[in-house]
Amino acid sequence: MMACFYIIGFFRSCVSEYCISAWGLHYLEHITQMLNQIEIRCGEIFNTISNNISSVPFRHLNLTTSAKMSRAKILSYRQQYCNGDSLTVRVDMFNYLGQRKTYGGDFLTARIYSTDLGAAASGRVEDFNNGSYNIHFILSWVGNVKISVILYHPSEGVSALWRARNAGYKNIIFTGNFLYKTQEIEKVCGFYLESQQEKCVYADKRDGEFFYCIKPPNVPCEALISMRSKIHHHSYLTKSEKTIFTKSNIGVEIPRDPGSIAVTNCQRNFTDMKPTCRIGMPVPYPSGYFLNNLWHSNFCNLSSFEPLSQINECLTGKLIYLMGDSTLRQWIEYFQKHMKSLKFFNLPGHGIHKRYLALDMDRNIYIQWKKHGHPFVSPGIYSVKDCAYIAREIDGLPGSPNTIIVITLGQHFRGFPLRLFIRRLLSVRKAIERIFQRSPETKIFIKVENSREINTDVERISDFHGYIQYLLFKDLFKRLNVGIIDAWEMTQAFASYNLHPPETVTRNQINMFLSYIC
Ligand SMILES: *[C@@H]1O[C@H](CO)[C@@H](O)[C@H](O)[C@H]1NC(C)=O
Ligand SMILES: *[C@@H]1O[C@H](CO)[C@@H](O)[C@H](O)[C@H]1NC(C)=O
Ligand SMILES: *[C@@H]1O[C@H](CO)[C@@H](O)[C@H](O)[C@H]1NC(C)=O
Ligand SMILES: *[C@@H]1O[C@H](CO)[C@@H](O)[C@H](O)[C@H]1NC(C)=O
Ligand SMILES: *[C@@H]1O[C@H](CO)[C@@H](O)[C@H](O)[C@H]1NC(C)=O
Repeated sequence: MMACFYIIGFFRSCVSEYCISAWGLHYLEHITQMLNQIEIRCGEIFNTISNNISSVPFRHLNLTTSAKMSRAKILSYRQQYCNGDSLTVRVDMFNYLGQRKTYGGDFLTARIYSTDLGAAASGRVEDFNNGSYNIHFILSWVGNVKISVILYHPSEGVSALWRARNAGYKNIIFTGNFLYKTQEIEKVCGFYLESQQEKCVYADKRDGEFFYCIKPPNVPCEALISMRSKIHHHSYLTKSEKTIFTKSNIGVEIPRDPGSIAVTNCQRNFTDMKPTCRIGMPVPYPSGYFLNNLWHSNFCNLSSFEPLSQINECLTGKLIYLMGDSTLRQWIEYFQKHMKSLKFFNLPGHGIHKRYLALDMDRNIYIQWKKHGHPFVSPGIYSVKDCAYIAREIDGLPGSPNTIIVITLGQHFRGFPLRLFIRRLLSVRKAIERIFQRSPETKIFIKVENSREINTDVERISDFHGYIQYLLFKDLFKRLNVGIIDAWEMTQAFASYNLHPPETVTRNQINMFLSYIC
């Protein structure tokens, strides 16, 4: 059904002589087959995730999980803990009427921290599906350690959000700008256009990617030069479901008893040598912690060399391609700020979403940032001429031991059905497999998405969507020889609550990146 719709689009989009030739028909058959395969694989992954998200009824806010009525307590509490111990916190959920919850599915986040030490770590949540949860922490520093458990959304909210997210593409409206013979024309664009008007189809058939614009009369589709987008005031949530997502109901602290513990050294010898951090290592959760605002790894020996002191030597002769969104643009901004002889080459283009290029002519360092392809959600206008889907960008590189690719995807996908994101990850994964075939020594990093501010616009930007994408990204890429920069875990631990995490977080992401390649 879907494929048929695409094929009709294909006919319309291509030059007629190609379509009617026998070659064209054969090609179409091939494409249909490929699209079917992509959709089948996409559907399988979607169903696996969907089966894991509990579908729970929503009748009234009173019956949903209430953070204030719920309780967190330390299991087998002791007066004193040793550095290196694990700590388990039990969370028991109640609704607003004080009745015990009997099912799971709540979206919880948890951290331990000592603000004065610049120390923090995230916890792993275990859902028993009966209204109880265990949260597992690793105690990694000495001092007074505080515990925080947050009910981000109750299970009823999770259920409603999951349904809403996958209901359609109406959350965001795109406006395309066509430029033709000095004439500028704006038209509505998107992944799905209900209009009966003639459309331009921007397709990457190999990867099953389709984007459309209403076609301006007598203007070729190639005249599309730029795009912007805005929130469409539309909701897939019902009026009563929206009561779950008022400001005071999102991200609420669960009372805990006690709220902090004392951790000492216990004269223990830490003789267990950790292996050096290597690309391709499986990343557990939690995988590390902040101490003195430096990120330490639990599972590998993260070189604590100061990135500032060796970054120039480390990156000499390297070609670095940053592909993704503004959270990765923070990297090129960091490089530029801290590498004295790295200079930006000022490329033409619109605003902050244009391509960034930084060069160090003496050390032969090339660093580029480019946004990923559709969807790019921004009220500021951005060019569509210099951006391609990440899979195509990777295909465009020969690869080499000095080639480094860092990929991030996620923030701009939160407001769209998950299938779009799944399809994109699959195409990126294939492109990585292809570059490894021509150049196994190319270095590839995945910087997973980070958590962000709490906002009542849950359909477009809730961290719940980000969390699902984060899990999926790690899962789909774990068998590839890639380095994972776990920005999600870092921002959870740091409690940064910012789409663009502060420089402390960026610096630690880059330190981790450097210790993998230097
Ligand atoms: C599915 O749920 C199980 C049990 O709750 C969990 O261990 C697993 O990580 C989940 N998988 C995904 C992809 O979320
Ligand atoms: C649920 O909450 C509303 C107020 O929001 C209240 O009027 C109602 O009585 C409550 N229902 C029950 C069963 O307590
Ligand atoms: C839920 O299951 C866990 C693990 O089996 C158990 O320890 C806990 O007591 C159960 N909670 C309730 C309320 O039954
Ligand atoms: C710690 O190491 C020291 C020297 O290596 C040794 O003398 C001591 O017995 C060790 N302590 C423990 C508790 O293992
Ligand atoms: C980490 O590596 C450094 C030097 O490479 C070494 O001195 C240190 O003992 C290692 N630490 C662990 C915990 O393996």
